[in-house]
Order: sequence, then C-alpha cells, then structure tokens
Amino acid sequence: MKRTPIVAGNWKMNLLGSDVVAYAEALAAAGPPETDVDIVLFPTPVYLAAAARAMLEWASVGAQDVHAEEKGAYTGDVAAAQARDAGAAWALAGHSERRQYHGESNVEVARKAERTLGVGLTPVVCVGETLEQRQQGETEAILDAQLAPVLAVLDAADGDTEGGAVLAYEPVWAIGTGLSASPEIAAAVHSHLRRALNDYRSGLGDAARILYGGSVNADNCVDLLGRPDIDGFLIGGASLDPASFLRIIRLCAGSGSGPAP
Ligand code: PGA
Repeated sequence: MKRTPIVAGNWKMNLLGSDVVAYAEALAAAGPPETDVDIVLFPTPVYLAAAARAMLEWASVGAQDVHAEEKGAYTGDVAAAQARDAGAAWALAGHSERRQYHGESNVEVARKAERTLGVGLTPVVCVGETLEQRQQGETEAILDAQLAPVLAVLDAADGDTEGGAVLAYEPVWAIGTGLSASPEIAAAVHSHLRRALNDYRSGLGDAARILYGGSVNADNCVDLLGRPDIDGFLIGGASLDPASFLRIIRLCAGSGSGPAP
C-alpha cells in the first residue's frame, strides 16, 4: 500500500493575520501545489478561517487543539464543530505542548480525538517521550500508554475520514531544540507504532500515516523520509517561513512511502 506523504506545518502561537496572507501569496507564487504530497497547515485558532480561505488550493488547514466537550461554558476554548465550521479538515490531538502546559492526559487526548472524528475532521494524534523517559529506557512503554486509549479512534478514522488514520511521533526532546531524532531512532519508533496499530487490527498499521516531528528542516527531511515507516512530517519552526516550508515540500514530493502496490 502506497501512503501519500503528509507535510504539515504547526505554526503554534506565531504569525499575524498579515503574515498568513503573505504566506498564502508566497505559496501561490511558487506555482501549483505538489499533487503527491498532502499539505496541511495548523494556524492559531483566530486565523483558522482566514488561512482556510487564503490557502484554498495549496493546503488544507487544521486546528491545533479542540475541546473534548461538544460545546458549552469553556472560555477561551474551541469546539471541534467550530473548527470545522471555520474551514478546518484536520485537528491535532495531544501535542506535547498541550500535554505539558495544559496537563492533558492520555484519556483526555483520546476524547479530543474522538470529538474531532465525530464532526468529520481527521485527528492527528501526537505521541512522544521526554528525554528522561528515553534515558530510562521507557520510550516504548510511554508510547504504548499514549496510544492505548486512541487505538479505537484511529481505527475508526481509517474508514471514516478523508485523511485516514494519522499518528505523529514527536519526541519531546527533539521539539524546538534543533536536535532532530536520527533516522535510525525515528524509524525504530515508527516501526514499533505501526506494529502496535497492526496488532490492534490487521491492516490498520499498513494504512496509517505516521509522521515524524521534532526539528525537521530541509537538511534532514530527505534522510528521514527515506525510511519505510516515516510518512511525512509535522514541522514547527521550519514551517514559519514559506520558503523553508516549500523547500521541504519539494524535497518530499515524489517519495511516497510504503511498499509499492
Ligand atoms: P519543531 O516543532 O519543528 O519546531 O521542532 C515541531 C512540533 O512541535 O510540531
């Protein structure tokens, strides 16, 4: 099964509305988008609708986070249905910065992913270990614990959403540090995750797209994407500048991963 690579940019709490417009113009000026890469941008929520309109042909957009509840008295939060209404097609669930700064548990992340799926968005579930956990030899146990409550959601997403089952491995020690995981380390984890998905339901792992995130840039993306279980990237810092994001997209185009059909 050939899996179309995803190149996703996570802008986090960066850029202003004028930057979003300039970004879209820079993409448009670069010519038509690559067709063998799924391009996704995750703007901050206030710019979701503007980004969805501006990027129209180039990229789809997603929410960086949605609330686990359907709606209600949750000041400052965004409901999955609102994100969808604003033009999102995807939503991150469980980014390590949400787990770290907002205390999101594995169960809450799973509830968010389920809510996302419930309104027709494709969840991108993020998992990853801290440096300490890696040094203690706990990486696989931590990932398994993060994965366990979302397996059913990923299984449902495989059939029910356009994006399918999407997982992002983002080692916390590699995020924003300039210290990407080596292709060997990333490949070993990706293969573990794919196996876990296949163990849950045969074929789920083969279909799922597993992204790597953590200090991805134009210099390291080719080696990473060359590994059979790495199906694309979730990129923070290097996605803020459209020229750098475009460079990565071009380098990833044409390298669809997975065994040939
Ligand atoms: P980074 O962030 O590329 O700046 O390391 C990745 C992420 O947090 O998604």
